[in-house]
Amino acid sequence: MFYSDDLIEEVRTRNDIVDVISGYVKLQRKGSSYFGLCPFHNEKSPSFSVSPSKQMYYCFGCGAGGNVFTFIREYENFTFPEAVKLLADRAGIALPEQEYSEENKKKRDLRMQVLEVNKMAGKYYYYLLHTEQGARAMEYLKNRGLTDETIRKFGLGYAGQYSDSLFRYLKKQGISDSILKESGLVQFNEKQGMYDKFWNRVMFPIMDVNSKVIGFGGRVMGDAKPKYLNSPETIIFDKSRNLYGLHAARSSRKKNLLVCEGYMDVISMHQAGFTNAVASLGTALTSQHASLLKRYTNEIILTYDSDEAGTRAALRAIPLLKEAGLTAKVLRMEPYKDPDEFIKALGKDAFQERIDHAENSFLFEISVLQKSYDMNDPESKTKFFQETARKISEFELEIERENYIEAIAGRYQISFEGLRKMVMNCLMQGVPVRRQPVRQSMAPEKDDGIRKSQRLLLTWLTEYPKLYPLISSYIEPEDFTDELYQQVASMLYQQLSRGELNPAKITSQFDDPEEQRMIAKIFNTEVRVETQEDTKKAIKESIRKVMANGIEQRTAKLDPADMAGLQKLIAAKKRLQELNRLHISL
Ligand code: CTP
Ligand code: MN
Repeated sequence: MFYSDDLIEEVRTRNDIVDVISGYVKLQRKGSSYFGLCPFHNEKSPSFSVSPSKQMYYCFGCGAGGNVFTFIREYENFTFPEAVKLLADRAGIALPEQEYSEENKKKRDLRMQVLEVNKMAGKYYYYLLHTEQGARAMEYLKNRGLTDETIRKFGLGYAGQYSDSLFRYLKKQGISDSILKESGLVQFNEKQGMYDKFWNRVMFPIMDVNSKVIGFGGRVMGDAKPKYLNSPETIIFDKSRNLYGLHAARSSRKKNLLVCEGYMDVISMHQAGFTNAVASLGTALTSQHASLLKRYTNEIILTYDSDEAGTRAALRAIPLLKEAGLTAKVLRMEPYKDPDEFIKALGKDAFQERIDHAENSFLFEISVLQKSYDMNDPESKTKFFQETARKISEFELEIERENYIEAIAGRYQISFEGLRKMVMNCLMQGVPVRRQPVRQSMAPEKDDGIRKSQRLLLTWLTEYPKLYPLISSYIEPEDFTDELYQQVASMLYQQLSRGELNPAKITSQFDDPEEQRMIAKIFNTEVRVETQEDTKKAIKESIRKVMANGIEQRTAKLDPADMAGLQKLIAAKKRLQELNRLHISL
């Protein structure tokens, strides 16, 4: 969806950043800024600042920063259009509807209607759970240790004891038969006519990342089969693209996500404080799941059941996760079956300990492999190490191979050298090298003082806009080193020359959150100065440094035939020499 710059600017200015962030972080005024505990990293004393005049935030601890859109994107894990939508809604601004083709429009309407039916059903089930009819279901949930708070948070419900309660309820609300069929919540056959998909079951609404109900799982309250029934795939429900619990887990602010198998596991983990748990709904993890997860984290901890099926599921999931660029670890649940039972038996501290000791996925694969070999039989043992060496040889980097050789030699009865030789042999036989996902790493910015001076100048310009005529008479945007700095400087100059000052608007011109963070850093650079005199000195010193560096840069790039350029350079050098006489007033 494309929104005009004007509209985006309107949405931004109608959402005061202090107001918005106050909804997420407790802020306290300190001078001209507000401070609080940074929501993007763990800290005990506040280094997260929000500036009402700049309409930007910046964390002096971790470097997170940007404008109100950046904040919503980072905090809620939203895309830019999602952030615009949220803030537009908040400010009561209507966003233009996208132009739809006739067919798309029909599809969209249908989706909306099916979503609406699911929402109504969710509310209805929730209501029934709290009536006389739902008493047994409520007792079942309570017996499984769920609190009222958890029941509410996950919107759990009860499907009623008759086979057409929901059907009759939705009919009364005026829902058409065709929409009912589309929703998958009502079925049809010749003998019975229309009847409910779910009855006499405890209901688990399945939500998408935006907390919209897209389907249900229903559990029997005993040992009958099938234990769970699930909504069929519909126009809004695609099992391979949705993860149970993700709507809550995505803003858990933990460094990884826990992926488990079942509804009850997710719920138990959340109730115990592991709010980063999601489940793949009894289906195998797909590559679509993996890329969905990658939107929210870089590390997955697999918390699958400890039985054979769970182990197999983990072995299948690991390569998919790696392919998506995620690091995978495996949490062992033994001697319990699943996270729900584990937490019930040993509590959350023990579970946290298991998380902390989750096993590297490759070592997990090797330990599973080892179980199919008899380590007391020399021949079998040799085969195990050959197979292990072959797997290790698939790692591209030598250091990676050596680390695994070391880890495995430490665990099984083989020497480092022995295993290393076997790996070398495999490599010489030319085993195909496994494709490693390319990890992008942003080269850390070389912060050689000069960039800091450049940032300081731009920060001062936002704090003392009066300095604009002076600073701009010495320094041009092209004197800045990096393209990003040059762009920011030139936009700021343009604003100041019109008598405007709006750093947050400049931030909006950049799409990449990394760039937005850098801009926040540019506008939030500090030096320790005590007095106004010191500030003036510091400003002068920064002008000198940035100018000198700019002259150097321009000299290096100067075309010998460019006479005008040369003249300008000579003039600049002269001004640099005269800088001592400059008088700054703040
Ligand atoms: N599942 C399903 N249909 C079944 C059995 C299981 O869809 N007949 C899915 C459900 O999403 C379930 C998950 O697979 O949550 C894991 O199944 P299982 O381990 O058998 O159930 P638990 O989640 O442990 O449920 P409970 O604790 O209630 O027994
Ligand atoms: Mn269970």
